[in-house]
Amino acid sequence: MTKVVLIYGTGSGNTERVAMGIIEGIEAAGAEAVLKKYEGDFIDLSDADAVLVGSPTYNTKPMPFINNIFEGEQGDQFDGKIGAAFGSFGRDGKAVMAITEKMKGRSMDVIDPGLPIFARPDEGKLEECRKFGMDVVSKINEK
Ligand SMILES: Cc1cc2nc3c(=O)[nH]c(=O)nc-3n(C[C@H](O)[C@H](O)[C@H](O)COP(=O)(O)O)c2cc1C
Repeated sequence: MTKVVLIYGTGSGNTERVAMGIIEGIEAAGAEAVLKKYEGDFIDLSDADAVLVGSPTYNTKPMPFINNIFEGEQGDQFDGKIGAAFGSFGRDGKAVMAITEKMKGRSMDVIDPGLPIFARPDEGKLEECRKFGMDVVSKINEK
């Protein structure tokens, strides 16, 4: 079964809500979604068809874990995979752009632009999240 892994961090839950919306779309498209809040442990991505990474923007930057996961053995796991960034923001949403650049640095096949969502997603924004999840599965199926 097609598998998408979502790795995320959040300060106040909004990015988690974005992830939940994306997952609804992935599952509606017939694929499996695995959600992992990043807590420092190694995440095995060997059987993932795509990896989505989410972070809110704080002080124009993603959360610090974004600097770690694209390095070392964990970072090697991203190479060559389909990827996309997502995250909630309040002003500039620079985290999604920064994650997208990190993904390009790991030679991922990146869906660009990713999915920056303002604040806590309401029903309309959740629909955007679902559509994004479905688009990720379409991209996997096109390969
Ligand atoms: C201290 C602080 C700094 C922030 N800095 C930014 C910022 O530089 N750019 C931005 O777009 N949003 C900024 N925000 C807004 C957050 O990105 C926004 O509240 C987001 O919904 C938080 O997502 P989360 O619930 O997943 O942590 C900031 C919020 C706080 C509390």
